[in-house]
Amino acid sequence: MNTNTSIVVLISGNGSNLQAILDRIDIGNLDGQVVAVISNDPQAYGLERARLAGIKEYCLDHRDYPSREDYDRALMKLIDNHDAELVVLAGFMRILTEGFVQHYVGRMLNIHPSLLPKYKGLNTHQRAIDAGDKEHGASVHFVTPELDGGPVIVQSKVPVFEDDTASELASRVQEQERDMYPLAINWFCQNRLIMDNNKAFLDGVMLEESGYASD
Ligand code: GAR
Repeated sequence: MNTNTSIVVLISGNGSNLQAILDRIDIGNLDGQVVAVISNDPQAYGLERARLAGIKEYCLDHRDYPSREDYDRALMKLIDNHDAELVVLAGFMRILTEGFVQHYVGRMLNIHPSLLPKYKGLNTHQRAIDAGDKEHGASVHFVTPELDGGPVIVQSKVPVFEDDTASELASRVQEQERDMYPLAINWFCQNRLIMDNNKAFLDGVMLEESGYASD
């Protein structure tokens, strides 16, 4: 069944997660369509990826707005002009205002490069190395007003090796991200994944704190 859910993807950088989503749609394995890609940074390579895929791309540079509230209002307007049913944060490196988050609550997903609730915020790979963690990974979660605190949908783990640098570990994590994010997005597009009362449900079953299939 192709529900053709309208997706707007927000990015700030390379856009490898965006590319994975587009590739999955291309081969018919994701029941949605990306109707627009928006970056807050004009240099984001993800904008080029959108152009190459023939998808509407916009740069809404946060430096052009006097406040976070003004920026988020403009961003909301642009997203809503595309009748987005799902907002996908794919390396969008901005803290969102509560008003913005509430507007999309239950239909906005994020991917975060750590095994949440560990290492919310930035520099997650270095923090995992510094803590001597033996495993690290990424989490897909619904976005709620608490930064990186919304209910987890799926996590993927990778080993941390003794001589890992943060960038080696990041590559290992990002390889997992490219599979797990399209999977979770597809669940949402197929109406199998919902958020209710700050919990994530897949096929009517409440997911654990670490999400579905954490191993
Ligand atoms: C990804 O690793 C994602 O988990 C991370 O940014 C990277 C974006 O890569 N997101 C965050 O840190 C959000 N707090 P990409 O631009 O190649 O998709």
